[in-house]
Amino acid sequence: MTKNKPKVIVTRKLPDVIETRMMELFDVTLNLDDTPMTKAELTEAVQTADVLVPTLTDRIDARLLAQAGDNLRLIANYGTGVDHIDLASARQRGITVTNTPDVLTEDTADMTMALILAVPRRLAEGAMNVRSDDWKGWSPTWMLGHRIHGKRLGIIGMGRIGSAVARRAKGFGLSVHYHNRHRVHPELEQELEATYWESLDQMLSRVDIVSVNCPHTPATFHLLSGRRLKLLQPQAYVVNTSRGEVIDEVALTKLLQSGDIAGAGLDVFEHEPAVNPKLLELDNVLLLPHMGSATFEGRIDMGDKVLVNIKTFADGHKPPDRVIGEAF
Ligand code: DGY
Repeated sequence: MTKNKPKVIVTRKLPDVIETRMMELFDVTLNLDDTPMTKAELTEAVQTADVLVPTLTDRIDARLLAQAGDNLRLIANYGTGVDHIDLASARQRGITVTNTPDVLTEDTADMTMALILAVPRRLAEGAMNVRSDDWKGWSPTWMLGHRIHGKRLGIIGMGRIGSAVARRAKGFGLSVHYHNRHRVHPELEQELEATYWESLDQMLSRVDIVSVNCPHTPATFHLLSGRRLKLLQPQAYVVNTSRGEVIDEVALTKLLQSGDIAGAGLDVFEHEPAVNPKLLELDNVLLLPHMGSATFEGRIDMGDKVLVNIKTFADGHKPPDRVIGEAF
């Protein structure tokens, strides 16, 4: 990039402090009213920008990238997941893609742990009961859930977030099991007292709670298929703070309806922001609007990463958070 101030187009509203710094450093177009861009607006953006700053709500597919101008050299994604960007097309056109790893690990792990605690203990149902003025008082046999301590947690994807979930789970007396494309370093396995399962099927049939913490890639689409979900025990719970596409949502809904799976805590959905209406009818699910990383601190840290990635790239260096390949 030769110009001193690259032309940067940001697709959504970012924290004020990040936007202000962007205004100081770059020739930037912000999206102050936060209306998601239409296809036409995105097309214009990729035709005119040197740097695009999209988020997971923008579909940066092959067709869009085919219309990009020669100036577009960097896609500095605001977010860690890059499944909304056609990486192969970007690579083919020589466009660098960066993301914002690490800074949302702890927040997402906190949210995962919150769901692991909330669903078996029926927090959403209890809260609803008090609010709806239905509470008749304490009873020895009413609103019973299931104990967390001593149960088995199966983590799918033992990357940064999976490991952070495992650390928390250990503190709550859960025994940690995991499935990952590669077995993690023995030191980490030892620290987490984690049991590795090369076979996901085997792990699923033995754990009490499953947590999805792998990215959505072609290899993980519907990794929890109907067949695999049926391997779970009827007292098992499913938690997902990663991407909805990793679970076959229709199959999961059916198994929750029939009681073949005890419950689910979902922060992400297959067709966001649409949620399967049948899921909304169920009592044994806790549904959240993709808020795993939604902290003030995290969103500023993500913005800082975007700033550093753009600035280093504009200065002629390799930005630190280049997306190299698809990891799981
Ligand atoms: C990400 O960065 O991919 C997260 O899903 C945002 O919460």
